[in-house]
Order: sequence, then C-alpha cells, then structure tokens
Amino acid sequence: MPTEQVGPVPLFLYGTAWKEDRTAALTERAVRAGFRGIDTANQRRHYFEAGVGEGLAAAYRAGIVTRDELFLQTKFTYQRGQDHRLPYDPASSFAEQVAQSLASSLEHLGTDHIDSFVLHGPASNYDWTDADAEVWEAMVEECNAGRARVLGVSNVSLRHLEQMTAAHTVPPFLVQNRCYARLGWDREIRAFCHQRHIVYQGFSLLTANVEVVQHPLVMELAKRMGVSPAQIIFAFARAIGILPLTGTSSETHMKQDLASLELSLPQEAVDAIESLAG
Ligand SMILES: NC(=O)c1ccc[n+]([C@@H]2O[C@H](COP(=O)([O-])OP(=O)(O)OC[C@H]3O[C@@H](n4cnc5c(N)ncnc54)[C@H](OP(=O)(O)O)[C@@H]3O)[C@@H](O)[C@H]2O)c1
Repeated sequence: MPTEQVGPVPLFLYGTAWKEDRTAALTERAVRAGFRGIDTANQRRHYFEAGVGEGLAAAYRAGIVTRDELFLQTKFTYQRGQDHRLPYDPASSFAEQVAQSLASSLEHLGTDHIDSFVLHGPASNYDWTDADAEVWEAMVEECNAGRARVLGVSNVSLRHLEQMTAAHTVPPFLVQNRCYARLGWDREIRAFCHQRHIVYQGFSLLTANVEVVQHPLVMELAKRMGVSPAQIIFAFARAIGILPLTGTSSETHMKQDLASLELSLPQEAVDAIESLAG
C-alpha cells in the first residue's frame, strides 16, 4: 500500500449522504467552510456522487481549493446495498465491478485518482467471504495502478477484520464504522485499529448516541466550556482516536463542527463520557 503517497488525512470528514439535489451546493459550502476531507460513495440510493463532483468543480473554479488540497474518499458498494442505479454491470465479476465502479467515481468526481477507496460493507454480516477477498484484491489493483491512494473497509465487525487481515497481505489503511456509545464507542474495533495503526473513522456520532449528547454530564460540560453538546462529542471522539464524520446541512454547524478541533477536554471528562453508556 503506497501510504507515503497520501497527504495527511484531514482531522474531520464531511459526509455527503442523503443530500440528493442539495449535494452540489452543500459540498461546495462545506469546502468553503473549511472541510478538506469529503466522504461519498458510488451508491446512488444514498449518495449523489456526481453532485459532489459538481460542488467540487464550483469550489475549484472559485479558487477556494485545488484538487491536491482535498482528501476525496469514495466507496464500492455491492449490488445488495444499491437500488437499480448501478455503477457497474452486475453480470460482471466482482473484480470487474470494482474497476467499473471506480472508473465511474473518477468521472463523477472529475479526477484521475481518489485518496481513499472503501469497501462499503462486506458481503456477509458474519464472515469475510470469497467475494470480499476478490473485491479487496481488485481494490489493491486500483491502488497499484495509482487510481486510489489508500484503501479502507466499512461496517465491519472484529471477526470480519480478523479474517480479512489474516487473508490478505495488504491490510486496510482505515476502518469506517457507525459508532455506538453503548458499545463503548466501538471499543473493540478501535483497539484493533489502534494496535495496527489503522485510522478509525466514526459516523453517526450524534444521531446514534442521542442519550449521551443530551446527558447532563455532556450538557454541563458544554455550558461550562461555552460550546454546544455536539462540539463536546466531536472533541471527545478525537480525544479517543476517532476521526469523525459530519453530514450537517447547516453552515453554522459546519463551522461549529470544525471549531471543535480546537477544543481540548479534561482527561477525566473524556473517561467519563467514554463509559457513560457502555
Ligand atoms: N459507511 C457507511 O455505511 C455510512 C453510513 C452512514 C453515514 N456515512 C457517512 O457519514 C456521514 C455522516 O453521517 P451521520 O450518520 O453521522 O449523520 P449526519 O448526516 O452527520 O447527521 C448528523 C445530524 O446531526 C446534526 N448535526 C451536525 N452537526 C451538528 C451540530 N454541530 N450541532 C447540532 N446538530 C448537528 C445534523 O443536523 P443539521 O443538518 O441540522 O446540522 C444531522 O441531523 C454521511 O454523510 C456519510 O458520508 C457512512
């Protein structure tokens, strides 16, 4: 894996899911607000990747950023996670589907390479299968060909990761998972990633953990520090080694989310939040 070819991974990623015809405008707004990492997927059911490309093109034209200043991440999604709008021929082999999907992503995003290519989720909820192995090796090929800088895997269990890393010589550079406070904020997977220097990206930090966002401990800390509870959660996430995603549509929240990078929480607050729910 040519990890030396990827620049620093930004400390916050802007997620582009569920934005439909607002995707272009919100992507441009996120870049204007200061986000330099953009997460998308070639999965028309939940993402409008071509809209992300439009938003980026507008930001380039306006001179806000250049392509090289951005970290662009997209995903390969199996047919079972897609609707009828497939970015590949489902009759092709999995390896060919990966190549077709990435070629389509590059076209959508107006670039000759992406910074990060992620398997959206393994084929089975239980095991790392032969299909996953074929897909992963095809993703490695895309890396070797220079069309993707680093590789990742999403929506995985510890079992998936153990089987995957035993089966392949190229490990994931990153893992992207939904992060539940009741599972100790994905404690087991975070530990696995930490031991192997794998970047851990967490999503649904706010929406999956409403009980923690609204917990008196978090509310009081937010009041004391003069910030919002959401900012406390993002600062906490960073303190325990999570690279957070936000998909906010609000310009105010975009700025608040980025400003949380400046917050430093007392260690006892980090420890208390980590064990509030699990
Ligand atoms: N790999 C996967 O399978 C997968 C699955 C889901 C998501 N993702 C990625 O993760 C990204 C983020 O998704 P998410 O599930 O974390 O949800 P999200 O789309 O980020 O939604 C977060 C919610 O929190 C609110 N919010 C954000 N910042 C806030 C702030 N500072 N104060 C108060 N509220 C705030 C937002 O409302 P406002 O819009 O009003 O701010 C929104 O309702 C997605 O866009 C996608 O890129 C990946």
